[in-house]
Amino acid sequence: MAGLDLTGRTAVVTGASRGIGLAIARSIAEAGGNVVLTSRTQEAAEAAAAQVNGTAVGVGAHAVDEEAARRCVDLTLERFGSLDILVNNAGTNPAFGPVIDQDHGRFAKTFDVNLWAPVLWTGLATRAWMGEHGGAVVNTASVGGMASEANIGLYNASKAALIHLTRQLALELSPKVRVNAVAPGVVRTKLAEALWKEHEEEVSASVALGRIGEPADIASAVAFLVSDAASWITGETMVIDGGQLLGEARPFRQEPVSVSSADIVGIDAGAVGRWFASLGVGFAEVMRPVAGAVPGAAQGLALRHAGAARFSREVPTDGSGCRTPRRRSPGPPSRRSSRPARVPPRRSRW
Ligand SMILES: NC(=O)c1ccc[n+]([C@@H]2O[C@H](COP(=O)([O-])OP(=O)(O)OC[C@H]3O[C@@H](n4cnc5c(N)ncnc54)[C@H](OP(=O)(O)O)[C@@H]3O)[C@@H](O)[C@H]2O)c1
Repeated sequence: MAGLDLTGRTAVVTGASRGIGLAIARSIAEAGGNVVLTSRTQEAAEAAAAQVNGTAVGVGAHAVDEEAARRCVDLTLERFGSLDILVNNAGTNPAFGPVIDQDHGRFAKTFDVNLWAPVLWTGLATRAWMGEHGGAVVNTASVGGMASEANIGLYNASKAALIHLTRQLALELSPKVRVNAVAPGVVRTKLAEALWKEHEEEVSASVALGRIGEPADIASAVAFLVSDAASWITGETMVIDGGQLLGEARPFRQEPVSVSSADIVGIDAGAVGRWFASLGVGFAEVMRPVAGAVPGAAQGLALRHAGAARFSREVPTDGSGCRTPRRRSPGPPSRRSSRPARVPPRRSRW
């Protein structure tokens, strides 16, 4: 696509020693840009830079350390001569549980790293370069900033504030600087491990696109937003979540269930079959006219007939074939395995 080339542009990506930040740095480098990657430690930042193509540089800079941030911006300008792209990606979540159970320390850390740092770095980048020459900023928010959910309310509040901050900065810095955000769903990173590691299959099944996110899914969207291909987009938050925000996907994927007459009135097909057999009438003969009149009924009854041995202890043995419909039978194994027995409660979106 025209306009995706970042040759000659220079980007600073905070929190880029691993996960989404490292993937973003790679994407920008692959599009031709120079990249400065930050982390809390110089070693981790350098190790990450070594994994990125081209001229990448690693800088140890805690996201809320103003002096370190200033040094990083200065170094970027000295080294590459411009600072065209800033990705405020460093994020943290030290608070788990109800919001009112959190202390001021956890609140301050969450909001310092997730909200204040983007303000700090955007201010420095704007004053040093972008305010005069133009530029593009992307903040890593979260779909958690768009919904309420248990246990990570403080983190989500910081991301909701970041989404609002994105719109505010987009106006304040217009028309020279574009400011956008991405809102990832659950992505395979260390920060989000608690949300997917032990139950990836279940989380994947609940998402419309059937899998959790990979860091590269977010990185390609960021590379687009900072490029000229997005030159008329500002103040936006792009949701990249495989359809998570759409809601629980599993009920939409269930196989249509053929409803048989036996399902409706609670007649056990196995017992019906045995009853006809006791009268000397074949099951198939009986079903032929029923199949013509009630599509699906024959199949439904046949399936249930196949599982009749399993239910034989539950049905009356007097040959009546009728019983109170206490619960639907789970059906034979092939039918059961394609349908979850129940839809578990929605998990955290992150
Ligand atoms: N993964 C998800 O499901 C998900 C979903 C929505 C949003 N997000 C957001 O995506 C961003 C990246 O998270 P991730 O999932 O990629 O996590 P991650 O793999 O744990 O990476 C976090 C990165 O941030 C750095 N970092 C942490 N605290 C920092 C600080 N105070 N100053 C500078 N760097 C710091 C870490 O480097 P060092 O440890 O080397 O300092 C690391 O490079 C965060 O803003 C997060 O909130 C993630």
